[in-house]
Order: sequence, then structure tokens, then C-alpha cells
Amino acid sequence: MADRVRVGTVADFPPGELRVVDANGTSVIVARADDSDDSLCAARNRCPHMGLPLDRGPGGLRFEGGVVQCPWHNSRFELCSGANLDWAVGFAGRSIPRWSQKLVALGKDPSPLTIYSVVVEGDDVFVEM
Ligand code: FES
Repeated sequence: MADRVRVGTVADFPPGELRVVDANGTSVIVARADDSDDSLCAARNRCPHMGLPLDRGPGGLRFEGGVVQCPWHNSRFELCSGANLDWAVGFAGRSIPRWSQKLVALGKDPSPLTIYSVVVEGDDVFVEM
């Protein structure tokens, strides 16, 4: 059975903003599905490409329209489904030539984010780990 960890209140997650929370020692990113949606989504704050954090790195935090971009090699993921949209297509928010993208990918196949269910009870937000 999943552990349910309280990570804040609904007001802690304003529309359009990605928040990083600690859930029993695991860094988790939480945001609304999109700017007009009240439902919350959560994923492990770790890029499946090289295991680096999604909230900090040379390209800075990038989150728009429910999509988070890794600040290291520009992989993009749908936060709610975890689906990979682009895989290692650049560096630090900048594009790189197509021929060099396989080098940056380091032979790793595209992978999704690890996602978690979010439960809202009253004003409290919980992540199920
Ligand atoms: S660590 Fe995220 S794309 Fe490489």
C-alpha cells in the first residue's frame, strides 16, 4: 500500500507554478495540470536521462502548459502522465545540432518520469508514494 505524505495546502500550488516538496526524503515536483485546471500532478524530481534534478541546473527551471523541461539536456515531459516528449535535444535550454543529440543521449532510450498520485482532502494536499 502506498504511503500518503502531506506536502502542503492547495494554496501552496498556484496555477502555472511548479513547486518542489520533500515527501519523506524524496524530492517531488508538484503543479496543476495546466493553468486553468484545479487538479494537481506530481512526479519525482529526477530526470530519467541522468538522474539529475529537474528544478535546478544550467538551463533553469522551465515549466509551461503542464510540461517540464529538464535544465540539463532539454528533455521534456508531461508532468501528469510522465510521458517523454523530447529526449536529450540540447544543453542548458539551448538547441544543439541534430547530429550531436545521440551523443548527448549517451545511448539511453527515452523514459518517462516517475509519477505519483495526488489526493486533496479539504485544503490538504497529499502525495501517494
Ligand atoms: S539529465 Fe535531463 S535530459 Fe539529461
